[in-house]
Amino acid sequence: MINAAVVFDKVSKSYPMYHHITGGIKNLIFHLPQGIRSIKRTRYEVFHELSFEIKKGETFGIIGRNGVGKSTILGLIAGVLRQSQGTIVVNGRISPLLELGAGFHPDLSGRENIILNGVLMGLTREEIFKRVNDIIMFSGLDQFIDQPVRVYSSGMLTRLGFSVVAHLEPEILLIDEILAVGDIDFQKKCLERMAEFKKNNVTIIFVSHSMLNVERICDRVMWMESCTQKMIGSTNIVVKAYKEHE
Ligand SMILES: Nc1ncnc2c1ncn2[C@@H]1O[C@H](COP(=O)(O)OP(=O)(O)O)[C@@H](O)[C@H]1O
Ligand SMILES: [Mg+2]
Repeated sequence: MINAAVVFDKVSKSYPMYHHITGGIKNLIFHLPQGIRSIKRTRYEVFHELSFEIKKGETFGIIGRNGVGKSTILGLIAGVLRQSQGTIVVNGRISPLLELGAGFHPDLSGRENIILNGVLMGLTREEIFKRVNDIIMFSGLDQFIDQPVRVYSSGMLTRLGFSVVAHLEPEILLIDEILAVGDIDFQKKCLERMAEFKKNNVTIIFVSHSMLNVERICDRVMWMESCTQKMIGSTNIVVKAYKEHE
């Protein structure tokens, strides 16, 4: 436990199921109070009593099909979602959640978003301003850095996101499928940077559909299936089983 960066102990997570309206929309509107109660009661459980532990300094992969709850797990670790049941312990400063565009304000420029994220991570103004230029350089966004991020392409958002995270010295780095949208050059830069983090004992939690990248950087992998974990263990064993299964 002392050496753990993240502990999930029998964690369940369910979402309200808004789409499931029994008896039709008309019935719902005419019986609104009961209707709303019944919608609130109907919940969809993403996973049930999920337990695992991620050690400090470990690079931990989470794989599995779309919708099995990989992003939900990262959201719970980041504290932007709350579990329905169970206990989650996180030891260390978490990076902003690296999902496409998450954590960015669309009306602010790239530069302003860098500063905002620094503030949210608890850095002082001086610390942030010292890093801003490095971040902009790393991102390669040049003239776009002062444009509002709503005009950014998905690749550009990824660049900005990873550049911010890579310079804010997280202790726990959360990465959700971002490598998939960057171009080859930037992907390479990200992987190099992650290798550096690894060397510096940063805990990395890496969600990806690229088994090549998972094999390249992860020490251990958890394979999620609907509602539960299918397998957890050393990367080569889990990835091999996953490939054979898919
Ligand atoms: N905010 C939400 N409200 C309702 N359901 C959600 C929400 N976020 C995710 N879900 C559902 O939870 C399940 C897991 O989603 P997610 O964690 O994004 O999976 P993954 O990242 O593995 O593709 C999906 O069925 C998805 O539809
Ligand atoms: Mg996801």
